Amino acid sequence: MDETKAENAAAAQQKTVLVGVTGCVAAYKACELVRALQKAGMRVKVVMTEHATHFIDPLQFRALTREPVGLGLFDNPSDPIHHISLASEADVFVIAPCTANVAAKLAWGIADDLLTTTALATTAPIVIAPAMNVHMYENPATQRNLRELKARGMTIVEADAGYLACGDVGRGRLADPEAIAQAVIAAANPKRDLAGKRVLVTAGPTREPIDPVRFITNHSSGKMGYAVARAAVARGAQVTLVSGPVSLEAPAQAQVVPVETAAQMAEAVKARLAESDIVVCAAAVADARPAAPADHKLKKGRDDDALSRIDLERTEDILAYVGAHATPGQVVVGFAAETDNVVENARGKLERKKADLIVANRVGGGHTFGKDDDEVTFVTAAGAEAHPLQSKDAVADELFDAVAALGAQR
Ligand code: CTP
Repeated sequence: MDETKAENAAAAQQKTVLVGVTGCVAAYKACELVRALQKAGMRVKVVMTEHATHFIDPLQFRALTREPVGLGLFDNPSDPIHHISLASEADVFVIAPCTANVAAKLAWGIADDLLTTTALATTAPIVIAPAMNVHMYENPATQRNLRELKARGMTIVEADAGYLACGDVGRGRLADPEAIAQAVIAAANPKRDLAGKRVLVTAGPTREPIDPVRFITNHSSGKMGYAVARAAVARGAQVTLVSGPVSLEAPAQAQVVPVETAAQMAEAVKARLAESDIVVCAAAVADARPAAPADHKLKKGRDDDALSRIDLERTEDILAYVGAHATPGQVVVGFAAETDNVVENARGKLERKKADLIVANRVGGGHTFGKDDDEVTFVTAAGAEAHPLQSKDAVADELFDAVAALGAQR
């Protein structure tokens, strides 16, 4: 597959969320929702009602999403049926904040603007996060409409109670954007087989100090480990991400433990091993570190000896430790980056490190680091299964399919 095709395939794997914003003081909180969804790896598009534009400028959403913002039924001349294309593009449609008026229109099937017409036209799951004055919220008409929408299969993220913009106190405040994002992620991912499970993931490179300003590291971008964390969150797991230094955003729902060195990563993993159901070692841990890092900056001239010869010592193999100490029921997954004999070497690692699954990929020879896609082979005791080039998010999702299959075989 050439690069453009691979990029298209990666984009196709990414979920598209349509965020509908209606006319409410809480409209500004939709910005936080957009960011939370983007952090979860989703592509976000926004559609606004005319009233919503009085509270927040569409430009704000255009800048955040880098996508055109849907406003009017006829505002996109290049798209003959705007609401139908938006409706079919969405994997999930979330309306947040949703006013009493829009909830009523949805309940009665009224479609008199782009947002409500799209809601009627989409077959994607719909998530509604109402926000309004407490008396409007408690009004039997609103409550009946929300019940009706729920009965039709929509997810209702109930409003919170508290101090409202109008000065009243009570239920009606828009739910926390993180809670709304969670509901969207759940709606976008019908697979929730990791609910209640604890998943520990290592990701990224490590840095092994030579002196206070220099270190040994590698090319790892951390993208695979972060995709694993995202997939686990999407499937309902409680995720801890032990991460070396990377420039990626972690899913908001994961607990991130930042580390630098292999020793710190090993310590963080050991401390959490007992409580984990699944451990995925995706980090590119340095195999060796300077045996005696200098406590001062090594200077040319004065420290020429130390600068021309750095003694190294092996670091601890974290995956091997996890494999050796895993208790029955815990699942251990490792990665293998190989330049040759990919399956054979991965099988060796599976046995030596006592892993349940090794995800093997080829490195070198044009297979460079930092890409968004990967061509991998899953190696287990049962055999090897080659997967085509696909996005790292898709690899991560299939990794948890394979973990589920391992559990079923036991
Ligand atoms: N790994 C680890 N701790 C280390 C080294 C590696 O946890 N100190 C894990 C990686 O996270 C990965 C797997 O081991 O899951 C394979 O790492 P890789 O570097 O491909 O293999 P090595 O064990 O280093 O073996 P070799 O040098 O033979 O390739």
